[in-house]
Amino acid sequence: MDRYAVVGNPIAHSLSPRIHRLFAEQTGQVLGYEAILAPRDGFAATVNDFRQAGGRGLNVTLPFKQEAFALADTLSGRARAAGAVNTLIFHADGSRDGDNTDGTGLINDLTGNLCLSATGRSVLILGAGGAVRGILAPLLSLRPAQVVIANRTPARAHELARRFASLGPVDGRGFDALDGRFFDLIVNGTSAGLDGAVPDIPDSVLAPGGACYDMVYAAEPTPFVRWARARGAAVAADGLGMLVEQAAESFLLWRGLRPDTAPVIRALRP
Ligand code: ATR
Repeated sequence: MDRYAVVGNPIAHSLSPRIHRLFAEQTGQVLGYEAILAPRDGFAATVNDFRQAGGRGLNVTLPFKQEAFALADTLSGRARAAGAVNTLIFHADGSRDGDNTDGTGLINDLTGNLCLSATGRSVLILGAGGAVRGILAPLLSLRPAQVVIANRTPARAHELARRFASLGPVDGRGFDALDGRFFDLIVNGTSAGLDGAVPDIPDSVLAPGGACYDMVYAAEPTPFVRWARARGAAVAADGLGMLVEQAAESFLLWRGLRPDTAPVIRALRP
């Protein structure tokens, strides 16, 4: 049986094994998919052991996406733009392709599942870490009117905006420079929610009829989803759809066919 896995630390609560098993059932593919906990200093060894035991591919999650980028023998354009790899594909000759399906996953959820268009719209991205870097190229390819990256540490937002400036209208700033501005779509890419917090942004940033998206998923509504609902957002979505969509894109890379994501999202929604 072809074997796949997700590697991370921590990994116990990952939904990826369930998602890929549902994809396999739905498409009639015979494969195994497990979750592997790698020691913080043992990512490369874990990857090698899995490959040598006959593994065909891996998903990579926190904190190893940059290490996976360094370890891959070839990199897709998406992985290069993201500076990170979340999908490894192993070949019979031992070589490893690295790709990144996170940004495509977000865009597919926004445009396909939630019917939210970013084209011609003003978009606010909160955060300037690895998660945000991974989505900027696919987001800018939708030709938004404007993308503002706002971050607690403004210098990181400026740096990211500079890096992607050739792809579209993007600029970086601190949260305090958002007064008087409002946006059609706000995407939270910070890890503030993990501490139960919401980035310190003015209430006025959400345009009337605007939508909010939290890249984080949790069984309960996330702090940012609650923030959005309390301010009357037309859509307040968490990252479950993105999680399933990035998985579908990895499944496509490995197996050559794309599963139907809608029933899987429905099955996972508590
Ligand atoms: P990741 O790879 O998940 O993006 P990261 O590189 O550590 O992780 O980035 C975390 C992001 O969440 C950063 O933008 C961070 O802001 P700083 O650059 O100022 O550190 C942001 N973040 C974390 N906690 C936050 C909080 N309580 N309020 C606002 N932003 C927060």
